[in-house]
Amino acid sequence: MSAFQGKTVVVGVTGGIAAYKTCTLVSTLRKRGALVHVVMTRNATQFVTPLTFETLSNHPAVTDTFARPETWEVEHVALAKAADLFVIAPATANIIAKLACGIADDMLSTTCLATKAPMLIAPAMNTGMWTAEATQNNVETLRRRGVHFIGPEGGLLACGDTGAGRMSEPEDIAEEIERLLSGRRDLQGLRVMITAGATRERLDPVRFMTNDSSGKMGFAIAEAARERGGEVILVKGHTTAAVPSVSRVIEVDSTRDLYSAVTETAGECDIIIQAAAPADYRFAESHEEKLKKQDGQELVLRMVENPDVAAAVGKMKKPGQTLVGFAAETQSLEANAKAKLSKKNLDLIVANDVTVPGAGFNVDTNIATLITAEGEEPLPMMSKRELADRILDKVLALRDA
Ligand code: CTP
Repeated sequence: MSAFQGKTVVVGVTGGIAAYKTCTLVSTLRKRGALVHVVMTRNATQFVTPLTFETLSNHPAVTDTFARPETWEVEHVALAKAADLFVIAPATANIIAKLACGIADDMLSTTCLATKAPMLIAPAMNTGMWTAEATQNNVETLRRRGVHFIGPEGGLLACGDTGAGRMSEPEDIAEEIERLLSGRRDLQGLRVMITAGATRERLDPVRFMTNDSSGKMGFAIAEAARERGGEVILVKGHTTAAVPSVSRVIEVDSTRDLYSAVTETAGECDIIIQAAAPADYRFAESHEEKLKKQDGQELVLRMVENPDVAAAVGKMKKPGQTLVGFAAETQSLEANAKAKLSKKNLDLIVANDVTVPGAGFNVDTNIATLITAEGEEPLPMMSKRELADRILDKVLALRDA
């Protein structure tokens, strides 16, 4: 059955030229089986007539222009309650600011404030407005509250500027809606920290030591956790994969940076999943000037051990926290992984033999064994995204036990 079948999607339309694309969105949602209600701001009615949306949605389009104020109370509560999902497309900087501040001064903002439904925002505006600190802060605030965003995309904008600001295509918005409607929300109310990627250890201004981690596994977990309703804090080192949109991203460079970021934030988190590949060693000396060749002489570099982030988090573990680590091994997979599980005080370790094709660094699949104090669960080869869900399922099962 389609994820849309029998679901009520309320589409908020604000005043932007992209409103014409929302007609396609509304019609797509209806064709796929959703019940669609449209709420328009006064400015939106300047771009597309309510009659168009009424015809496409088969329901009266709710607008401030036509609704009598005394009916607002009933109407906004009714729609707010009926919504399985709230979408705002296009969303102007103005509505984003209002939502961030909790302002309810028209039908759309009032309904948004009243709803408990998941919300998806598809911004569309001039690049300058999108990148303005005020807008970015508002977006950050909403993300932290669990609001989902899609776009804006880059390109040539209606105003003639080039840059980020174009509303995502109706088909992509519909796909995101489908994902949100079909998704489980079993991480709602939980704060999840995920580490991803490689750290770098500097030798001099132009050289560093690192590893092959692309960040894909950590990002897949971050994406899955977000879709399942978690508040996701992503601590990312150096990565090559596309960074998912989450509540908060903390960028780190070296293992010591990762250590500070993770230990500072760990206390606020319910679940901590450490998929990063931190460099175990750093150079004993890191040079401020570029190292020069020494006329054929051998160069000997001394390295010292970095702090173990997962072990530190294990030491400060609070009651109710679930800690997950990874074990990248090239030999004695299970024995090594089990040793790490107890040494780092983890609840779950995801062990994988990085020498096996289809597992490990820089590929989209993984072959892992989930190891807890109670036992082992070897999994077949699967996508990192699927493995992410299996890891989160296991975490929730451990928390329920
Ligand atoms: N890890 C960490 N800090 C480090 C090294 C590793 O937090 N300095 C974490 C990783 O994020 C991972 C787990 O510990 O979740 C295991 O990492 P792995 O590289 O497999 O093991 P190490 O502890 O480094 O042990 P070894 O290199 O001896 O295999």
